[in-house]
Amino acid sequence: MPPNDTAEFRGAGVLVLGAPDKRMKVLPAPFVRNGPPDQAAFHRRLLELQSESPLPLASLGHRLSMVEEVEAVGQPSQHRLEKPRPISVSWNSNYGSHGWHRYVGRFPPHVVRALLNHFGADSRSVVCDPFAGSGTTAVECRLLGIPFVGIEICPLSAMMTRAKAAFPSDSKLLLTLAQCFVAHYDAAWKAFVGNRNIAKISHAEVLERKGNQIPPFANVERWFTREALLGTSIAVEFGMQQQGFAREAVLLAISAKMRSIGNVDVDVVRAEYSKTPRRNVNVGKLVARQLMKMAGDISASLATHEGLISSGSDITVHEGSVLDVELGEGSIHHIITSPPYGIEAISYLRTHLLSYRSLVAHLGHDPYDARNKTIGSEYLTDIESDAGRRARERSKAFRAFFEKNPQGDDAKYEQRRAAMMQFCDDMLSVGERMARWLKRGGQVAFVIGNKRLGDEILPMDTIVTELFATCGLEPVDAIRHKLKTNNSNSQVPWQERIIQEESILLFKRTT
Ligand SMILES: C[S@@+](CC[C@H](N)C(=O)[O-])C[C@H]1O[C@@H](n2cnc3c(N)ncnc32)[C@H](O)[C@@H]1O
Repeated sequence: MPPNDTAEFRGAGVLVLGAPDKRMKVLPAPFVRNGPPDQAAFHRRLLELQSESPLPLASLGHRLSMVEEVEAVGQPSQHRLEKPRPISVSWNSNYGSHGWHRYVGRFPPHVVRALLNHFGADSRSVVCDPFAGSGTTAVECRLLGIPFVGIEICPLSAMMTRAKAAFPSDSKLLLTLAQCFVAHYDAAWKAFVGNRNIAKISHAEVLERKGNQIPPFANVERWFTREALLGTSIAVEFGMQQQGFAREAVLLAISAKMRSIGNVDVDVVRAEYSKTPRRNVNVGKLVARQLMKMAGDISASLATHEGLISSGSDITVHEGSVLDVELGEGSIHHIITSPPYGIEAISYLRTHLLSYRSLVAHLGHDPYDARNKTIGSEYLTDIESDAGRRARERSKAFRAFFEKNPQGDDAKYEQRRAAMMQFCDDMLSVGERMARWLKRGGQVAFVIGNKRLGDEILPMDTIVTELFATCGLEPVDAIRHKLKTNNSNSQVPWQERIIQEESILLFKRTT
């Protein structure tokens, strides 16, 4: 089969589900154009994984991922929600509530759904993502009615996960909220600006406005025009007057639109303000539109996942470090997760700096405060530490790599090298904890990438596999494929260079 020939691949489309006597004909969904050359093989592998599912065929037919049509069932729920184009350039990771906020480092929901099907997770299982990020695993669990427990250190990401996965089972709430928001916005704007010219009102005056909840921060006048600051201040004020999901939905909508509100340099994912201030920013309109879009996504999710989707009350998100939060021993059936891939040249903390500054009244603390507990943070260690001591004892690949790449004179390289070693120690601690939390026979899908350290590629996939094996997590399979979504690292050219390979590592708890 020629690589990436989606037409030929689809033409071949018979997928054998369960025992050979239980054949179900399926038409695979078209795959994307910007994928690596092994795209067809990867697609096929995910279909095969699903064909090994212990789920009853009737239910599996509706849950299949990356499939357009199932004989005697019709279009699976994902396909109906996603409505992919016959020819698309990249994975669409924005179906339903997945698209409520951009996030560098998301993994494709298609992969998560295929793995949930492979594991046979259903309403009687509990699935965990200890690096919940923006909630991809959580949203897929919600859509398929699977109880979910997540852990996430960054309060903004934890909020994304909660709002995206635990939305109410009725879109009316958001429509009403959007109306109330517009009324509040217009009234608050008029009350404060009156007949004055907004261009004459200083940033300091906006921050002193009664009802404002954005504290002053460095370079505020460069990050926001006056109208954008006032609009954000009014929107945050409205959000903070709400409770529960409604509050987080408004704040999430503000954050999602921050790249159109603030003077954020959209080509740069780090915290830099643009030299050219954004003109004619109407925060009221942007946020109201986003809330309406979110309402539409809820309706579409409910309509396409009828009979599968749960109430949302079984989505739990712990805000904290995976190395501090304790889950019950043997309380988890399966884990699907993706940690940072080592030391991040760009940290997750910096990407959404302007959202943190604007939403701190709700987020509670500045995520920079947690940087020492953020796995893969470049601030984590100094080279004098004993970083890597535990991993060295347990992983041959770790020893071989760091012996081949000894300490040198370059202080920056030294710091990175030590931080990478610390990262490996942290992965060992994560493996120990996951093994404790899993039931016997429970399975893990761990998505990790191999990054460069200097001129060499650190084989993190092999190191993690060796480390986890010492924790009682038996390696079952490793699927190597560069994952690309329309909202991830693939749009960051230098990330593309640093992350050489990605793998889905599969493990089973044996002891
Ligand atoms: C690769 S991202 C996960 C993205 C996620 N799979 C998604 O699709 O959105 C890794 C996440 O780990 C989080 N993280 C880093 N250190 C952590 C820690 N000690 N405990 C829990 N989460 C942590 C980061 O904030 C980041 O959101």
